[in-house]
Amino acid sequence: MSDLPVRPASPGRFISFEGIDGAGKSSHIEATADWLRSRGHEVLLTREPGGTPLAEQLRTLLLQSPMDALSETLLVFAARRDHLQARIEPALARGAWVLSDRFTDATFAYQGAGRGFDLAVLQQLETWVQQGRQPDLTVWFDLPPAVAAERRAAVRTPDRFEQQDLAFFQRVRDGYAARCAADAGRFVRIDSHQPKEAVWADLRQALEQRAW
Ligand SMILES: Nc1ncnc2c1ncn2[C@@H]1O[C@H](COP(=O)(O)OP(=O)(O)OP(=O)(O)O)[C@@H](O)[C@H]1O
Ligand SMILES: [Mg+2]
Repeated sequence: MSDLPVRPASPGRFISFEGIDGAGKSSHIEATADWLRSRGHEVLLTREPGGTPLAEQLRTLLLQSPMDALSETLLVFAARRDHLQARIEPALARGAWVLSDRFTDATFAYQGAGRGFDLAVLQQLETWVQQGRQPDLTVWFDLPPAVAAERRAAVRTPDRFEQQDLAFFQRVRDGYAARCAADAGRFVRIDSHQPKEAVWADLRQALEQRAW
């Protein structure tokens, strides 16, 4: 008898979807899930902050209650810890594909670049909480903040983050660009300033290129 863990026949994959509010994440995560399911994969659709009962409660606090950047960051990582342990890791272990609407790059972009929180502290929290786990692929939907604001305004009233001004979203966008440059092999940048069909075509091509 071997003590080695049983490995699933086909390994699970972890894909995160990133970009500023209104960039097109939600519009394309569902299409990606359908595409993967049509290829026979089990798909877990999830989001951050959130994905578990505890993390969803923390999400509600984060979106509604004003707090300082350190409190915000600690709550985000507490939610992430629960999400990883209770949902993401078990799904990957059984061979599912995990699609998450935001993950740690959003923390670097929003709390780091957007709010000016110390990036070195974020890196430490990332190491502690993730224990080496990173998405296999991160899809970054890149859209000029002014265009994203127009798209958001057309559909809903803003939450606490969405009420920020364009300069804030420009910093967040630059934060994503920095994360992308620092880990180019993990990222694919999708130009979201084009019709939905063209955005989806670019994304599908990026997925197919990985021969998954
Ligand atoms: N390529 C596109 N062209 C025009 N409108 C788009 C495009 N992609 C998405 N939209 C529209 O823009 C709005 C925002 O898109 P979506 O909700 O997918 O963004 P999101 O990145 O999930 O935003 P959030 O972070 O706020 O959840 C939606 O009304 C969506 O229908
Ligand atoms: Mg969304």
